[in-house]
Order: sequence, then structure tokens, then C-alpha cells
Amino acid sequence: MTHDFSRRKFLRNSLIAAGAAGAAVQAGGPAFAKEVVKAKATETTPKIINLGANTLSIGPAAPALTAIAAYAPISGGYEPTNTHEIVETLSSQLGAPADHFMMYPGSGTPLDLVVMAFTGPKGSLVTADPTYEQAWRTSQRSGAKLIKVPQRKDYSHDVEAMCAADTSTGMMYICNPNNPTGAITMRKDIEYAVKNMPKGCTLVVDEAYIHFSDNATSAIDLVAAGENVVVLRTFSKLYGMAGLRLGFAVASPANLAKMNGGSGRSQGIIAATTIGAGVASLKDPQLIATRKAMIKKQRTETIAWLEKKGHACSKSEANHFMVDVKRPGKDFQKDMATWGVNVGRTWVGYENWSRVSVGTEAEMTRFRDAFVAVAAGKLGPVEPMERRRRASLETRGATLQHASFFQDEQVDLMPLSHC
Ligand SMILES: Cc1ncc(COP(=O)(O)O)c(C=O)c1O
Repeated sequence: MTHDFSRRKFLRNSLIAAGAAGAAVQAGGPAFAKEVVKAKATETTPKIINLGANTLSIGPAAPALTAIAAYAPISGGYEPTNTHEIVETLSSQLGAPADHFMMYPGSGTPLDLVVMAFTGPKGSLVTADPTYEQAWRTSQRSGAKLIKVPQRKDYSHDVEAMCAADTSTGMMYICNPNNPTGAITMRKDIEYAVKNMPKGCTLVVDEAYIHFSDNATSAIDLVAAGENVVVLRTFSKLYGMAGLRLGFAVASPANLAKMNGGSGRSQGIIAATTIGAGVASLKDPQLIATRKAMIKKQRTETIAWLEKKGHACSKSEANHFMVDVKRPGKDFQKDMATWGVNVGRTWVGYENWSRVSVGTEAEMTRFRDAFVAVAAGKLGPVEPMERRRRASLETRGATLQHASFFQDEQVDLMPLSHC
């Protein structure tokens, strides 16, 4: 497959494709040919869509936008803060005492903090493999031994093996549902981990995607019951607020203090507008149900479609899943991007699998059309970008923060990777 983006060749290819497909349709040809025609219809000015970061393009809910507009004009001073309001709201909705909640700009920040607080040269980090690798990278800074335990065949965390992996585990990390597979770890397994993890170990349950799941159960009640568990949540996923930066940790006051360097204050300041948007989202009675149903429908339909075409998919209850594209996922990602459809990356050991985020009906239609086109060896008109760098995070002499998009090398430290 060659990339040739000269307009003349592109037009010629389009005409050939349209002609061939048209002939096939006229002759009552294969369904495949009709799908190519459909794909060509979108190729003149394809809007780039992001199905690679597990975010929602629909953004914050309407009440959140109203709250931002209300808070912006009164944000001239440092006070008053509405942090108390969001903590009280979370406490009453999630059933843990208010002093067990700490707000952060996203959940990536407290994820770094738990690794730095609970792991080190004497306390290893035990995680599933594959999983969200941010903690792996942070463990390089804490000096902890990193132990990756392969997932079970059904993509769930192998908690028995994780508990038995080391006698001096400082922190066990369970991402539920997991990123990148979307697979869940059942309550009985979480309880097994609490009972059987090595003495002194802290269990961190990352519930970034739990709102999308039918069967995953939150571990927040275990925190409230006094178990050595920390739960992390974010507004970056179902709430569509990744750019507004809001997340929180639920932990005992003692564990929160450890995370915050002994202080009772969060290691991150959040804008009043963002907190206002968070409160408004939490108080919207329809928000979770509506978005969860939309994602579930699109996920179910897309996975069924892919499986019918012979592509195995992970068992997901999140807004993303892994699909076996049967060729290097990196190449698939680049080819899909030529149609303006940016899908996610591969994971080590799953080089022929691509992580696809689930979006709106229109976005998943674009995904299917692009999938059919690239499977037929056809590229779209969008110039491929070999690598995107997070320029906003660059400072002189600092390590570049590589976005996961087109990432083709191991990056040592990427604490702010949100993918
Ligand atoms: C499992 C998981 N945890 C945490 C994060 C961090 O997200 P944020 O800092 O935007 O809350 C992500 C982002 O993709 C994630 O996938």
C-alpha cells in the first residue's frame, strides 16, 4: 500500500474506485463494493475524529456548560472555593465520608501520587498486563520493582497470581474496567485481592471507566469500611471533561496525607469553573444513564460488526476495546488516519491489536467506512502525520511528552499521558 496524496492521483483513484464499485453494484456485486462507495462519499473533506483517547467528543453536558458560564465572571479572586460543594455531593452520592475525598486536576495526578507514596525500593508495584501503563512509568521514579502479571484468558485481572507475585508488594493496581481491553474485574476478585494481598500493600482501584460498565462494582465501600484501598475516578471519560481536568481520590485521611506529602491539601489546584461543571454533571439525573446507553449501543454494534468480519475483539464494558486487525496495529493506525479516523495504539504483546475508542453513531459509521476502505488497500486524502508531540508540555531541556498517537518507541517518562 503506497501513500500518494497528489490531487490528480487521488481523484483518479476515487474515480476508478467509484467506477469499479458502481459496476459491482449494478451487477448486484458483493456487499464489499457497496461499502467502498459509501467510504468514498466522505473522503472529500473528512473531519478528523479522535477514537484514540477514550474521550467523548460530545464534551461536557449542558448543565456543566451553564455552570462554567456562571462561575467564570466570579472567578477574579482566589475565593470562594466550591471544592466543599463537590466533596459533599460526591460523599452523599458515593457513600464515603467527606474527609475521604480529595479533588485533583484529573485522576492521572493522584495515580502518580499513589505510586510515589506506596511503592519504592522496598515495595514493588504489581499490575496486570496489559493495562494502563502510567503507573509503570511512575514506578521508575519511585525506584520500585515492577511486576506485570498477564491477564486471564477472559481479559480479567488474575488476582490470585497478582497477590502471589511478591511478598513485599507496596501497591497493587487494578484498572476496572481495564484500559486498553475494557474488561472488568468482578467484585469477588477485588475482595480476594483485599483479603490476600501481602501485608502492608495498598490496593489502588482505578475506576476511570466504571460509569460505562453494567457489571463492575465500585470499591468505594471498601475504602469506607476501612480497608487499605484507594479508589481513583475521573470526569475525563463519561462526563466529557478531559480538557477541563477534574478527578478525585477516595482514601482514608491517612492515605490521602501520604499521597499529598504529609499535607492535608491536594497537590493540584482546580479551577472554580471546572468544579462547577463537575457539580452540575453529578447533579444531572440523566447524564450517566444516557451516555452509558449510547456508548453501549455503539460498542455492541461495532464489536458485532468486526467479529462478523472475523476480527476478534476484547470483552469490553467500557468506551473502548481492543480489536485484532491481523497486521501491525501501527500500520493500521496510520492508514485509518488517512481517512481522518484516529484510532488508538497497540500494547506490548498485542502488536496486531488496536485499541478503538467508542464514540457517537456518526463517528462509528466513519470508523466502519474507513475500516472497509483500508482493508481494501485504499487510503484516504488526509496527510499522515508521522508523530504528534505534546508541545504544550515542553520546557527547555525537559523530556518530550509523546502523545500515544503514532508512538513507535518506548518513552521513559510520560506522566501526563491521557491515553
Ligand atoms: C485508566 C486511566 N486512568 C487514569 C487516566 C487519567 O486520566 P485523567 O488524568 O484525564 O483523569 C486515564 C486516561 O486515559 C486512564 O485511561
